[in-house]
Amino acid sequence: MTNNNHLRLLQPLEGNPWNIEAYCQKGGYEAWQRCLRENNPDSVISTLKRASLRGRGGAGFPTGLKWEKVFHHRSAERYFVCNAGEHEPGTFKDRHLITHSPHQLIEGCLIASFTVGAKESFIYLNAEFTEARANLEKAMGEARERGFLGKNILGSGVNLEIEIYDGHGSYVAGEETAMLESMQGRPAQPKQKPPFYPTDFGLHGKPTLVNNVETLSHVPHILRNGPEWFTQVGPEQSPGTMLFSLSGAVNRPGVYELPLGTSLRHLIEECGGGVPNGKKVKAVFPGGPSFAMIGPDQLDLHMDFDSLKKAGTGLGSAGVIVVDDATCMVRQTLKLSSFFREESCGQCPPCYIGTENLEELVKKIEEGQGTQQDLDRIMQISGYIKGTGFCTLVTGASVLVQNSLRLFRSEFDAHVANHACPFAPAPV
Ligand SMILES: Cc1cc2nc3c(=O)[nH]c(=O)nc-3n(C[C@H](O)[C@H](O)[C@H](O)COP(=O)(O)O)c2cc1C
Repeated sequence: MTNNNHLRLLQPLEGNPWNIEAYCQKGGYEAWQRCLRENNPDSVISTLKRASLRGRGGAGFPTGLKWEKVFHHRSAERYFVCNAGEHEPGTFKDRHLITHSPHQLIEGCLIASFTVGAKESFIYLNAEFTEARANLEKAMGEARERGFLGKNILGSGVNLEIEIYDGHGSYVAGEETAMLESMQGRPAQPKQKPPFYPTDFGLHGKPTLVNNVETLSHVPHILRNGPEWFTQVGPEQSPGTMLFSLSGAVNRPGVYELPLGTSLRHLIEECGGGVPNGKKVKAVFPGGPSFAMIGPDQLDLHMDFDSLKKAGTGLGSAGVIVVDDATCMVRQTLKLSSFFREESCGQCPPCYIGTENLEELVKKIEEGQGTQQDLDRIMQISGYIKGTGFCTLVTGASVLVQNSLRLFRSEFDAHVANHACPFAPAPV
């Protein structure tokens, strides 16, 4: 791409090592110093609301509203946790941000903690991200040396520490209530919402602000440049840029920062360089495996929360997975059904029993042992279990098979009719 004007989080790295000098030269930590000076949480919250920043962790919830709920909670004891769990297949933008540009996250965490008046602050970091952790610790050391973090920050009398918490390393542990459970030494199992929203009932039963790495990384830039700057790109309801993790059948997989609302075609063809080896797009997961796939006729869809929801799918945390036309969709469905079965935390019976049944049935079809009754059974079970869990894992598992059968019924039928998979075996 030639035009990098929209880049806010991923500045070109050449000559810009993202140490504290480079970050401060670009106005880094100015927003934090202003927050300290002015001590006006309502003004910070109002700026985030005017920027219409929406959470980048999956649900697209309005960030300013969440901060307001925690800040105005009647309980004086509050907590802050940055969610850097990132265990979904096809999503790798948070570890990229922490590894290559940790200071904007640290500044975002400081502002968030201070604004909501957190008693303690944490970054829940996937324990597998060793490089990201090393860079984050180094950056925290630099921030401490400059007096931005720690005791009596810049002589203000404010003390603020951020603790890195070793994350559990399971998909469900990234769900905010499960994450908070695991941080209190309990199994990483989601709690039922309502009533257990972290903004009311989080760490130690107290109001807790939970935000994603990317959401927090946007905050210092918005406060420094103003909400009008942020809303210059992207649609009115979800402005700004988003980091797209692009993987699967593309020539150039990677993390791309683009204005929300950019077409999927632009992402795949211009950024990703199209599908390798002369193959074509067969399907795309625009929001990771938990949201419905779309076919090649929908590549002009706009990649933002509302457009994808309207199209019957979702943006999630923008983990875009491209599938080429040489792929067996039954095998692809089996792979992801196995993921959902493995990652079910075992708490909700419809989830752990349903994901197991679905995996077994799809496996039977892929191995050429399935019948038309098995296909009916897949539709029946997925219909029963959808929406029945304390988190959305079970819904993701059921949407996957329903959607795959709807888009690629002929491939499932061919496995049943031929008693074998018509595609070449998967490469070992
Ligand atoms: C199964 C599951 C896994 C999730 N994993 C993550 C994760 O790894 N990182 C994340 O930020 N949010 C994850 N979420 C979303 C969080 O529950 C929560 O909405 C988010 O951290 C809030 O931050 P945001 O408002 O800044 O997006 C997950 C949700 C579900 C249902």
